[in-house]
Amino acid sequence: MQAANVTVVDHPLVQHKLTLMRRIESSSSTFRTLLREISHLLAYEVTRDLPLKQVEIETPLVKTKAPALAGKKLCLVSILRAGNGLLEGILDLIPSARVGHIGLFRDPKTLQAVEYYYKMPSDLGNRLVIVVDPMLATANSSVAAVTRLKEGGAKNIRFVCLLAAPEGIEAFSKAHPDVAIFTAAIDDHLNEHSYIVPGLGDAGDRIYGTK
Ligand code: PRP
Ligand code: URA
Repeated sequence: MQAANVTVVDHPLVQHKLTLMRRIESSSSTFRTLLREISHLLAYEVTRDLPLKQVEIETPLVKTKAPALAGKKLCLVSILRAGNGLLEGILDLIPSARVGHIGLFRDPKTLQAVEYYYKMPSDLGNRLVIVVDPMLATANSSVAAVTRLKEGGAKNIRFVCLLAAPEGIEAFSKAHPDVAIFTAAIDDHLNEHSYIVPGLGDAGDRIYGTK
């Protein structure tokens, strides 16, 4: 199953690094480094159609016109905690982006997203908003985050993750058909605890070395 609104970033470097991340023996330090590297390549893909405008500049030789990003600075939104692992690398490429944070954890019993923090830049409605979270499992967290952002005025939203489950893509696309998903891979299924299989385990725990 692949919904129309999904881009799988199947670049060989992304796939190779993702395989290293999945390995149980990869340390938190290795995991974080690889996530940052992959996030550069995901950022490249999610921003490839950003609008440009011609600006006047002066090189050491002549005055000329050259392309520069147009429009209001975009907004990156990290779904805490694990979203921060993707956020840092994307900020490397778009350092002037505004950054919002939404704190959500997945209740292990109900699997519903529980919000504990919300802080966004102003003027969401006039910015491209890129929401980042490595894992799209049931999609309860990402659906809740995007719903909250729409309530806050966001109109133009994209979602970037590392791994998605087919079930999560279906649920997310049903709830937010206007939001394009960018992912490095679509895995096989969710297990009885709604973990992605084969997956990489709990992304937050792997980034921060918790259990
Ligand atoms: C993980 C992950 C997503 C969510 C995905 O976060 O980072 O936010 O689970 O699952 P879902 O699609 O079924 O909602 P978690 O709740 O473990 O919080 P953490 O980032 O603080 O570890
Ligand atoms: N959250 C994770 O971190 N990993 C999963 O496999 C599912 C939800």
